[in-house]
Amino acid sequence: MSVTNPIDALYVHERFKHGSREKEIAEFEDHARRVRAVQQTLAGMHSPGMPQRVFHAKAHACLAGTLHLLDDRPSATRHGIFGPGGKPSYNVLARFSSGVGFDQHDLKPDVRGVALKIFAVGAAAGATDDARRTQDFLMTNSTNPFGNDQQQFVEFMEANLEPVRLAGFLLAHPRIAQLLARATSRILIPSLATERYWSGHPYLLGPTQAMKFNLRPADSSDGEPAEAQVSRLDRDYLRQELRARLAQAPIRFVFSIQLEKDPETTPIEDALIEWKENDSPSIPVAELVLDREIDAQVCRKLRFTPGNFVPDHRPLGNMGRGRIFSYAASQMGRQADADAPPEAQLFGGKTA
Ligand code: HEM
Repeated sequence: MSVTNPIDALYVHERFKHGSREKEIAEFEDHARRVRAVQQTLAGMHSPGMPQRVFHAKAHACLAGTLHLLDDRPSATRHGIFGPGGKPSYNVLARFSSGVGFDQHDLKPDVRGVALKIFAVGAAAGATDDARRTQDFLMTNSTNPFGNDQQQFVEFMEANLEPVRLAGFLLAHPRIAQLLARATSRILIPSLATERYWSGHPYLLGPTQAMKFNLRPADSSDGEPAEAQVSRLDRDYLRQELRARLAQAPIRFVFSIQLEKDPETTPIEDALIEWKENDSPSIPVAELVLDREIDAQVCRKLRFTPGNFVPDHRPLGNMGRGRIFSYAASQMGRQADADAPPEAQLFGGKTA
């Protein structure tokens, strides 16, 4: 598997692993092969002949809506799609998912994710070449990913195939065990609309600043009664709950940014170190309003990936650079569509 490496130059606080771009890319290509191997194993176990996403295979909903930038966002956040060259709002798709690479009952402990695809960002943030280019922002309900870099995450991915191996991996990596427990140990997730989601590793915010980002439910979305209408015994209760909620009102989140401060508290290359709110408080920059469900088939074949980025929001760090290769491998293996449908087709000609 070979992917054209899109990283021309490092951000000032990035460092190639093993001290060289070539060695790092060789490791990423090895990761891509291992992703494909795990995908084939998972398909053999759960969906013969139909490889799925290696992570986040089960989609709960594919929702459409708008990311509205807040007029009072501070100037420090006004870069890229949030900057003066951007737009006041963007059309967005949001795919809500559970973490493992197969379909299981929603009551099973798991990480939950949301992948945003933001449309028509080309002109906003340094990209002039492609009006159809999207910026994808992927998040999970864990503050940090399950690895300090991509190598460790790939080991976690492989360990997940066998409970005994996973137990060994978690014993050897107590910080990851703690993160996993925090994200998955609640008996019941009442709703995906009341979860918080984090980017986990940093991205660029314009050419000279790094950020992490997160979503939290807008106050008006907290504790909606929709949960009561849905039986938790339903295998897909999280999907039913989102639908019931959407039938009452749009689902709203606040999209916030944390700014890089210094190498100790907000490092770029170690994804296991949390950027604490005390060190870098979340700054609200936009409201995400999701107002309708679209055909699940559209999202099933789509590519949500940190590899879909505009130059002002490139994913950073070894994990950010490496994910571009790993996602391409999984997407090739499951024969994902090359491009997203045109914005006009998805949003009925309505540009945000
Ligand atoms: C902070 C780190 C990470 C976050 C927040 C994250 C989040 C997500 C989310 C939300 C999805 C579902 C995307 C969708 O809805 O289509 C996903 C899929 C996936 N993730 Fe990650 N992930 C992270 C790190 C990694 C790493 C390091 C790997 C390396 C193996 C990885 C491998 C994958 C793969 C292979 C898929 C499926 C791609 C596809 O077939 O479309 N992830 N991830």
